[in-house]
Amino acid sequence: MSAHVQQPAPTWDCPFDHTQALEPDPLLGRLRAEAPVARIRMPYGDGEAWLVTRYEDVRTVTTDRRFSRAAGIGRDLPRMTPDAIAQPEAINLMDPPAYSRLRSLVAKGFTNRQVEQLRPKTQHTVDTLLDEMAEHGSPADLVHHLSARLPLTMICEMLALPEADRPRLRRWAMAQMATGPADRAESARAKTELRAYFTELTAERRRRPGDDLISSLATARDGDELLDDQELAVLAMVLLVTGHDTSTYQLSNITYTLLTHPPQLAALRAAPELLPAALEELLRFIPFRQGVGIARVATEDVELGGVTIRAGEPVHVSYLAANRDAEVFENPDELDFARPSATHMTFGYGTHHCIGAHLARMELQVAVGTLLLASPNCASPSPRANSTGTPARSGATRRRSRWPGERRAAPAGGRRAHGDPVPAGRRRPRARHHPGPDPGAGPYPARRPSPTPAGPAADREHRGPDQAPRPAGRGDPATSGLHRPERRLRP
Ligand code: HEM
Repeated sequence: MSAHVQQPAPTWDCPFDHTQALEPDPLLGRLRAEAPVARIRMPYGDGEAWLVTRYEDVRTVTTDRRFSRAAGIGRDLPRMTPDAIAQPEAINLMDPPAYSRLRSLVAKGFTNRQVEQLRPKTQHTVDTLLDEMAEHGSPADLVHHLSARLPLTMICEMLALPEADRPRLRRWAMAQMATGPADRAESARAKTELRAYFTELTAERRRRPGDDLISSLATARDGDELLDDQELAVLAMVLLVTGHDTSTYQLSNITYTLLTHPPQLAALRAAPELLPAALEELLRFIPFRQGVGIARVATEDVELGGVTIRAGEPVHVSYLAANRDAEVFENPDELDFARPSATHMTFGYGTHHCIGAHLARMELQVAVGTLLLASPNCASPSPRANSTGTPARSGATRRRSRWPGERRAAPAGGRRAHGDPVPAGRRRPRARHHPGPDPGAGPYPARRPSPTPAGPAADREHRGPDQAPRPAGRGDPATSGLHRPERRLRP
């Protein structure tokens, strides 16, 4: 028997109670410095969990087989939403080798080549939506006109979901992300409805396959095996749910961040070919979530960050805290388009790394690029104007971000696509930042010897552990964005 006795770790409430627009919670920085593997309690689920905040440790949890998603199936794990979003058959609750089989089938629909084929359609959709926004006149609501529509349109196109069904599909998908206790029944109903919808639809695609992703998954074989009906229905559901709201939030957040960082925006307007690299830095910089995603469960005792995680204990990672780790990103709290290449974790890392990352990047490139080129007079909105809205449970489409801006005709010869030559006389790019390779596929960024794990903001706030439990359901901690409810605004 081990003589080692571990001191009980203090417990922190998660999500924390930070209220500053798109800034990461300073407490995350403090945890990263002082308690990189911290005990947390969450609004829903049974018991406590660990929260891992350092880049290196997040990398361990997301790549080490001793941390399992499947081991959490059937358990009421600590989480952000009243009802667990993922279903037992879903890809994000699987472990290898079953996971690898499904993942490789789905990944065939999301290769760079497949995604590039969607670029013209994406451009057309963006042009149409921006034309409608111009017709509406200034000020316009970016969320309503563009960010809530584009990602939904693109994933629905990939899955060939009828246009008439899209509003209710979005309603069901958003209901699952709601975080208040009163949302539990609605969320459970939405999940049942979505599942019934996709069960029927996938059965039909098996009978009469078309030229879409669901049909190719319905007929794709792994050796002699086809995906079974439930696997297929749940997979289609996951693709719809994960495939639109994430990009919606990030499209709004990125546009807002650029408009509130004029020097960076000016640099980008002067050299639009920098956009893909700049987007990677924006994705790193913007805290995408206030809270966390789906827990993993330790399958054996693991020493990590100075504590022992016992077999069976749930572990959450904070990708956004890892994205601000000074061990990996120099001056992590600066938005720096010249930052040397390093793989951010906004699309997750390791085994469950986002399958739609190529698609999301392409959508963001087309949307942000077109918006910036076609609307050079987009004004910098005040944080308050951009954050007003109804309580978070209503979803992005009902959160009106006022968006002052005039749109002018596209540059002569059409909008310049990314990759086209830079017009003569235009300044050459200064930044040499390239998106890092997908995790698992490439080199891990070198660790620097300057450990300054907490940003300066970390010291501003000194909330201790063991605060009183937060009343559940305040705000929308599952995701964050311009749609924060009023109480989250800066004074
Ligand atoms: C900017 C937009 C997006 C962001 C920030 C994002 C982020 C993420 C994150 C953080 C994960 C979870 C990693 C984990 O479980 O640890 C994930 C998983 C996933 N994402 Fe995305 N995502 C985006 C867009 C998309 C799109 C457009 C799709 C298209 C279908 C998509 C499909 C998925 C799927 C299917 C998974 C589960 C993968 C797995 O468990 O193997 N995502 N994403």
